Formats: sequence, structure tokens, C-alpha cells
Amino acid sequence: MKTKIFIITVILSLFINLSHAGEGMWLPLLLSQLNEKEMRDMGMKITAEDIYSVNHSSLKDAIVLFGGGCTGELVSAQGLLLTNHHCGYGNIQKHSSLEHDYLTNGFWAQRMEEELPNPGLSVTFLVRMEEVTVQTLKGVNDKMSQKMRDSIVVANNKVLVKAAINGTHYSAQVKSFFGGNQYYLFVSETFTDVRLVGAPPSNIGKFGGDTDNWMWPRHTGDFSMFRIYANKENKPAEYSKNNVPYQPAKHLTVSLKGVKEGDFTFVYGFPGTTQEYLPSYAVDMTALQDNPIAIGLRQQRLDIIDKAMDGDRLTRLQYSAKAASIANYWKKMIGETRGIKRLDAIEKKQAFERDFQKWAQSNTEKNAEYGQLLPSFGTIYSAFVPVNNAYTYLTEGLLGIELVRFANSYANLVKQCADKSKTEADIKKTAEQLISSAVAFYKNYNTNVDKQLFEALMATYTLSCESSMQVSVVKETAAKYKGSIPAWSNDLYKKTMFADSVRLLSFLSGFERGDVRKIEKDPAYILATGVYSYMLNSFAPIVNSFNASNDSLQRLYMAAQMEMQPEKRFYPDANSTLRVAYGNVKSFQPADAVEYKWFTTLDGIMQKENPDIYDYKVEPKLKELYNLRDYGRYADADKSMHVAFIASNHTTGGNSGSPVLNADGQLIGINFDRCWEGTMSDLMYDPDQCRNISLDIRYCLFIIDKMAGAKRLVDEMTVVE
Ligand code: ARG
Ligand code: GLU
Repeated sequence: MKTKIFIITVILSLFINLSHAGEGMWLPLLLSQLNEKEMRDMGMKITAEDIYSVNHSSLKDAIVLFGGGCTGELVSAQGLLLTNHHCGYGNIQKHSSLEHDYLTNGFWAQRMEEELPNPGLSVTFLVRMEEVTVQTLKGVNDKMSQKMRDSIVVANNKVLVKAAINGTHYSAQVKSFFGGNQYYLFVSETFTDVRLVGAPPSNIGKFGGDTDNWMWPRHTGDFSMFRIYANKENKPAEYSKNNVPYQPAKHLTVSLKGVKEGDFTFVYGFPGTTQEYLPSYAVDMTALQDNPIAIGLRQQRLDIIDKAMDGDRLTRLQYSAKAASIANYWKKMIGETRGIKRLDAIEKKQAFERDFQKWAQSNTEKNAEYGQLLPSFGTIYSAFVPVNNAYTYLTEGLLGIELVRFANSYANLVKQCADKSKTEADIKKTAEQLISSAVAFYKNYNTNVDKQLFEALMATYTLSCESSMQVSVVKETAAKYKGSIPAWSNDLYKKTMFADSVRLLSFLSGFERGDVRKIEKDPAYILATGVYSYMLNSFAPIVNSFNASNDSLQRLYMAAQMEMQPEKRFYPDANSTLRVAYGNVKSFQPADAVEYKWFTTLDGIMQKENPDIYDYKVEPKLKELYNLRDYGRYADADKSMHVAFIASNHTTGGNSGSPVLNADGQLIGINFDRCWEGTMSDLMYDPDQCRNISLDIRYCLFIIDKMAGAKRLVDEMTVVE
């Protein structure tokens, strides 16, 4: 008995305080309770209440979810907003053409009237948040199925949301935390008139391109500027010429003081997804099975697209955003898998699981509750891994072919034509909508590139995806061509109307119900709908049933981990809700004998310059300013122009564009990336290797002011020296 108690104490003490300074994405609402003391010990001079308050304006009122997947921050009383260049990229591209190539050359509105509207772009402020666990879980018990539980939760949340927004123009959402053990309500306000104000040329905003992406030392001027417009009452309104600049409750003060190694910093934004509390089986599946398959398929796509872009300016315009998004997670996955291996993350999880099992079996009651958890995880994951692999071959392979995704978007029209209740007018309307989406699609489509993608991806799919789990229509068609993918693709791209803009648009322009036969007989349509219906009918049931078992095991496992380590401060996984991460400006050693300093300078840009490589061309005007060392008040005390810096803040995708703030809560940088060595932090954080990368705000202002000559924008900001 004594030894047992002793073992348990040893085990417990092992897990106490496992979270490291730097690790964690914390809920603003709980900072005063959980983090404020530590933050102040680390150097913070403001209070938790300054960061988040429901009683008066606080820093949270200057932060927005930008366009659904990034973060932005307000930097003037006139709704001026900063985010990353790669977050504004899609919209900058939409305004670009060969004649007005804002993507390549940059764009700066000289007056407010020149700021460009972006239909479809919105920004969202958090109004308040509140814990609602008790209300959400009312009527739920541990005996019921996950499905039953989910449906009660959904119904309860509906009531909560309705009550929260009643009589307002707000929207609300209840989000699950700690795997469904806690719930919070978020009330928010969304603005839809958001205009492009400025963007540096790509050779600044995307300097280093995908070559430097996820890497340190970094020299990317990754920022762009927008402005929020509101109606005369300062409330959200659809775009209108009569709208006026939005006046936020708070905008950030910009500091030109710069940072030193060791300085306290925090990042305030909307991190998307992390999964820190998974069992080893799940990490094994992601890092050792799933990632390698996806990496290989993305590599094939990139090889083809990069080559096509190199030879042709139009193709570059058409495919650069697509290539960037494929390359981004391709590289992330490579870094993540390496990081998991290097950190022995799976072995660390397994060691924890051995201790967990001992703890769970330490008495009959616990054993009944938790004793079977890990074995059950083992069972469901070993059954799921092969399915997941085949699913990844489909989503990363077959869906990497643009023709497949595009042709499938006609399924709705086909359905309408078969539906007697739809009138000719309904059908005409759908056809017209398809015309405008087809025009947008073809603007960025090159049949020859897509045909090459088809050949490469289809070859890998038919060869490497487990045969019993291959999409039936793919298997059948490949067999028809005796396995010759080139023969198949020649035929397909010749016969289908979806690869030919002229044919498709003229077909659509006079479309009548009877024409639907032509779609149904089109080989690309047959392939596309075959792929999607296989997903829906063959994969979805298995995936859903795995998810249901996994969700309920994970909820229990999370609760058990918290029960086992009562002293540990747990932070919830990221879920696109507003969070604070804090840490210190900090160098690191990425490899034996290599030391990474914590900041980069303009000198590094000149060292990387290579006029023959697209990613390393240097803007002539920037070179001029560099040669004159004309940095004005934006120079560091060391007289150089600092470009970027790293710190130990725990961030993830979605934190792009997030403000990086100093001990006084002033803006010192814009978060835009993580160092490659630490990209496994979505699954396990390592204080030695995990660093977020921020643009130094002084470089950003230098570009706006000295390079672009848009001083009017800097004058709008509240700047302290
Ligand atoms: N890695 C950064 C992020 O995850 C930047 C991505 C955009 N840049 C690029 N070169 N693809 O969003
Ligand atoms: N660039 C990422 C984003 O778009 C941030 C980098 C990361 O994943 O930490 O959110």
C-alpha cells in the first residue's frame, strides 16, 4: 500500500507544472484568474483588465477576426486596420490584372475615396464571452450516446444564442472547450464594408516567398492595410458610398521603441486549431501516416504549377495564390513531422500513457471509469488508419484536380432540372449564377496545367491508394483505358466541356432544362460526381462513426487528464476563438552548433538578393533607401533597420496578422509565421524550439512612410517613440 502511494506521488509530481512559460493560448476572460501574476512576473506592466474587459473598452476592442481565417488589429480612430500581406492576398489579387498588377507592384490609396471595396470580406469583433457549461450540458448524462449528447447540446446552445442576440445586430456562437467538458458563449459584431488601403509590392510583402516560408532568418514584409467602414451610426452596413470610416472603441498605440532579447511580449488573436491532449495513436496517425501521404501529393502539384508559373506571367498571376496555399501546408506538414520525431513526441505520449494507465488502475472506481480508455483508443485508431489514408489520397489527390472540383459544382443544376417543382425561371437563374462563377474560375484556370495535374495525381492515386478503398468510378474508368492515365486524360480533356471556357459559357448562356443530358453525359461530370458520391456514401459513414467514438473517448480522456493532474494549469486547444499567448523575445538553437539570433535586418534582404530568382528580387526603391541608410525614426538604436523578430509565444494558423504587444500593451509587431523547427507545437509545444515570427512594426511603418510615401496613414496612427 505504501509503495503504491509513493508511486502515485512520484507520478503526480512529474506532471505538475508541465506547462512551460510561452506555452498556451489562454482565454482573455480567465487571464486575471490564471495568468496575470505570471505575466506580471515576466515583465507585463498593464493589467488583465486592460486586455479584456466587459465593463470598459480594452485591447480586445482593437482586435478582429479578419476574413474568417486571420487576425487584424485597429491602429487608428478611423478604422484603419493592419493584417498580413498573405491574409489580404486573395483580395489584392482580385483587384489585380496584367494592366493593374497590384500584387506585383503594390497598391496605395492616396485618398480615402481610392480605397477599394472587397465584396465577401468581413471582420468580426468579440463583444463579450461567458462560460455556459451548465446551461449547455443541461439534460445530458454519461450514459447516453455521443449522438444523443450532441443533439441535446445543439438544442441547448440554440436557446442560449437566441437569448444572447435578442434585439441586437450581433451574432453569437457557443463553442466547445476541452473536448466538450466546457462551453463558452461568444457574442460578436461583424462588419462587411472593409476596403483595401494599401499593400506593399510582392517582393516586399512576400519576399522570400515559399522558399523562406516557415523559416528563420526571415525578411518578409508581410503586412497589408484595410479600413472598416460603417453607417452614420457607426454600425455595420453593407458596402455603400455613403458609409464612413468606423470609429473603434479602442485602437492600438504603436511603439517605435523596438524590442530586446528577453522582453515580455504577447500575441492577441484568433488561433485556429491545436490538439495538445491527444493519445499517442492520434499523433502517430497524423505525423507518420497522414502527413507523408499529403506531402507527397502536394509535392507533385507544386512541381507542375511552379514550372508553369516560371515560364509565363499570366500563369503566375493565375496560380500564385493557389500555389502559395498548397505550399504552405505542404511545408508545415514536413516541419511538423520532423518536429514530432525530433521531440520524441510519440514516445513522450506513450510514457505518459503508461503512467496514466497505472493511475487509472489505482482503484476500482477509477478503473471502471478510465481503465479501458487507452485500449479503446488503440482499437479505434488501428481500424481507422487505413481508411484515413485512403481518404487523404482522395482529398489531397483526386480533389487536387481542379476539373473534378469544378465539374462537381454543376450537380445542383442537374438536381434542379430533375425536380418538377422547379420552374424554367428557377433553372435560368441557377445557370446565370453558374456563368458568373465559371467566369471567375476560368480567370485563374489553365487547362494544360490542370491536365498535367490530372495525370500526375491520378497515376499516384491508382498506384498507391489501397485498391479496395479506391473510388469505384476511378477504378472502372482506369480499367477502360487499360491503366493508361495519359490516354484517359487526352480523351477526358478533349471531350469535356468543363475544360473549355468558350464551349461551357455558350452552353450555359442558352441553357434549358432539356440540356441537362449534356452535363450528365460529360466525362468530367461523371468522374467528379463519382468521386464526391464515394466520399458521401462510402467514406462519410465510417468517418462519422469514428468521430463519434473518438469524440466521446477524447472527452473522457481530457477530463481524466485534468483529474490526474489537479495542480496543472490547462489551456484549451485553439478553436478560432480569441486568445492570448505570452512569452519572451528569444533566440534559439535549431541544430547542433547553430544559433539563431532573435532579429533580422534590412542587410539580410540585400544579402539574399538575387535578380534571377523570383522570391529574392529586391524592390529598387528599397535598395535606394538602404544605400542612403535613410530609415528616419524607424531605425533601431543600433542604427540598422530591424525587419522581423522571434519570441516564445505559442501561436498557430489563424494567428496570422495578430498584434504582437509589449509590456505596456503597445503594438511592436505583426505575427505572421512560426519557425519550422517548432511547427509541431500544434500537437506538442517545445520551449527550446517553438518560436513565433513577427514583423517589426518599425519596418512596416518605414515601408508605408518612406517607401510608399503614404505618410497620411502613419499620421493617422497613435505612435510613441
Ligand atoms: N506560413 C505562414 C502561414 O501559415 C505564411 C503563409 C503564406 N506565405 C506563403 N509563402 N505561402 O500562414
Ligand atoms: N502564417 C500562419 C497563419 O496564416 C501563422 C503561422 C502559424 O501557423 O503559426 O495564420
